[in-house]
Amino acid sequence: MDSDTPQAGARAGRLAGRKALITGASRGIGRAIALAYAREGADLLLTATRADALAAVRDECAAQGARVALHCADVAQRPAVEGLVEAALAALGDIDILVNNAGVYRAARLVDCSPEDFDRVMQVNVYGAFHVLQLVLRQMQRQRRGKVVNIASSAGKWGSMNQAAYNASKHALVGLTRCAALEMAAHGVNVNAICPGFVQTDMFDEFRVHAEILGVPFERVIEGAIARIPLRRALAPEEVAALAVYLGSAESDGMTGQSLLLDGGMLMV
Ligand SMILES: NC(=O)c1ccc[n+]([C@@H]2O[C@H](COP(=O)([O-])OP(=O)(O)OC[C@H]3O[C@@H](n4cnc5c(N)ncnc54)[C@H](OP(=O)(O)O)[C@@H]3O)[C@@H](O)[C@H]2O)c1
Repeated sequence: MDSDTPQAGARAGRLAGRKALITGASRGIGRAIALAYAREGADLLLTATRADALAAVRDECAAQGARVALHCADVAQRPAVEGLVEAALAALGDIDILVNNAGVYRAARLVDCSPEDFDRVMQVNVYGAFHVLQLVLRQMQRQRRGKVVNIASSAGKWGSMNQAAYNASKHALVGLTRCAALEMAAHGVNVNAICPGFVQTDMFDEFRVHAEILGVPFERVIEGAIARIPLRRALAPEEVAALAVYLGSAESDGMTGQSLLLDGGMLMV
């Protein structure tokens, strides 16, 4: 543990005493979840590929009183994920909550998408989630308890232009969530997913390529996207974090196998 703040269990909050592994914690939605979990009393193992950004989030979480360990890993690399889960168990003892959040986006028309780009999106968003999920579920099965929060996307529920690889990867994550939930229910482990719509993060900027493909100014594309949202706005990462706290806490003990849309009403299915 990098922080010498109070022992686990001594802090208050909806996640007091829980130990959480959060991937993609260096910025955006993952950072917001790390901060919310720290505020609610959890101890954390944070991971991403960039050490500098991760260290900054560690300091913010430690300022909330959380005990925080860091371990950099590319989730697409199985040996790196094995090292990550070993590091998490060494630092935390158990893993009560896994937040599978690391993800990448590539905009391209399906007919132009290179096999390399398609592969990279699948490697990070599907295989990465699978590697972490499988190794952590083995541990949760032994513990006979646990919560998994997969960060999928509204793109896992419908079709959208110029992002076939991303949509396919998020549909896969929704499927993985259901199958894991079915197999793990008897072991006391809940597995759910959040499907955010538009969230203001660095990933939002990747839409510039989408705008180029359409031949429409970026601002017009964003206006068009917002116009399709009944609440008429993008979400803040903190709003996704609030749902991730619920799914990581005992409050959601009765829920498993769900992929919850959090998108300002963009999709009503
Ligand atoms: N923003 C949205 O509108 C939106 C909507 C729906 C769903 N989502 C999903 O929400 C999740 C977080 O997205 P975000 O918007 O917060 O994106 P972001 O700001 O681009 O952050 C992505 C995070 O994933 C990490 N990451 C990327 N590739 C990785 C790899 N190979 N191994 C380990 N970590 C990796 C990044 O860390 P490093 O750079 O240090 O590697 C970073 O911490 C993603 O799964 C995304 O698909 C986002």
